Amino acid sequence: MKVNENFLKIKNNYLFSDIAKKIAAYKEAHPGADVIRLGIGDVTKPLPAAAIEAMKKAVEEMAHEETFRGYPPEWGYDFLKEAIVKNDFETLGVDIKTDEVFVSDGAKSDTGNIGDIFSVDNKVALCDPIYPVYADTNVMAGRAGVSDENGRWSNFYYMPCTEDNGFVPELPKEHVDIIYLCFPNNPTGMTITKDELKLWVDYANKNGSVILFDAAYEAFIKTENVPHSIFEIDGAKTCAIEFRSFSKTAGFTGTRCAYTVIPHELKVDGVELNKLWARRQATKFNGVSYITQRGAEAVLSGEGKKQARDIIEFYHNNAHVIYHGLKDAGYTVYGGIDSPYIWLKTPNGISSWEFFDLLLNKVQVVGTPGSGFGPAGEGFFRLTAFGSADKTKEAVERIKSL
Ligand code: MLT
Repeated sequence: MKVNENFLKIKNNYLFSDIAKKIAAYKEAHPGADVIRLGIGDVTKPLPAAAIEAMKKAVEEMAHEETFRGYPPEWGYDFLKEAIVKNDFETLGVDIKTDEVFVSDGAKSDTGNIGDIFSVDNKVALCDPIYPVYADTNVMAGRAGVSDENGRWSNFYYMPCTEDNGFVPELPKEHVDIIYLCFPNNPTGMTITKDELKLWVDYANKNGSVILFDAAYEAFIKTENVPHSIFEIDGAKTCAIEFRSFSKTAGFTGTRCAYTVIPHELKVDGVELNKLWARRQATKFNGVSYITQRGAEAVLSGEGKKQARDIIEFYHNNAHVIYHGLKDAGYTVYGGIDSPYIWLKTPNGISSWEFFDLLLNKVQVVGTPGSGFGPAGEGFFRLTAFGSADKTKEAVERIKSL
């Protein structure tokens, strides 16, 4: 009997579990402490009223034999997929078919599970810093090789996203098979323009690579010419998979609903990836609850869209408060415009974890150390705009008082 030894290669806990443990330990030692959490990107505003109403109605349907529903379709109810196609893609002038949309319980699960349909021999290209799920799940799958002392894996191709390149990665200088891109970016909060993304689409089509495009923060885009979907870019349907989520768009982090789009045109060695994912999901996933999918559908209704936009606007204001508060106080800050994340440079060159400890111990503010997202994140720190307005303002004042 043997375990999957790849799991043993991952030395640390999942980043956000580590942080949660540190907060718990601090709170135990300081029971009265008023800790402000701007660490994990978890929302605080309640669900849009339209979603709540639709979910209550769906609960009522579940109470009667005539309207009760059992297993949901493993790829999502048509009513939700049709609403997604119409509201998230037709509005962009993008033609997506309902059977190219796979409803799921989260972009975290989908970006983590998508590796199932690819060979373990593929070369994976990752931005650095990066949402840890992309890296960790490829380590678990056996695509990583061995790690050096900085936590860099021998088989990954790293694409540093730094101040020098405006946090937009450069095209790989060698052949890579799978490319993870996330824009608006987690953790840096920075974006890519349509022209820049076109270069990636062209690279992928030329090299036979597949781009895994995580657009979970799409709803935060305000700037013109920033793509809401990779499928706005000519040629993307033959080289890209897109991940979307209701988590940050409409407060579904606890309710759980997301979707993945795989166009039929996307083929590897003549095999449609859509078919492989359909098979994977049908085998390993039993669908999202009817109640949740009715809630998600309502988010895409006229009322729901307006309510969701108001919530995003509220978080945008928090981002503005953090960005400008810290900038005025002399910090170097990035992101926060088309994103709920503010990426700041730690003062006086101290390490990301030192800054984490300093904030927690001195002013009881929690953020996420940049180095937790990869070696190139060292010397940076992420704050989220998902708190309450008062706590956000107070956190900025506390950080300024340091
Ligand atoms: C984050 O803080 O990076 C996100 O909340 C993580 C996630 O969406 O899973």
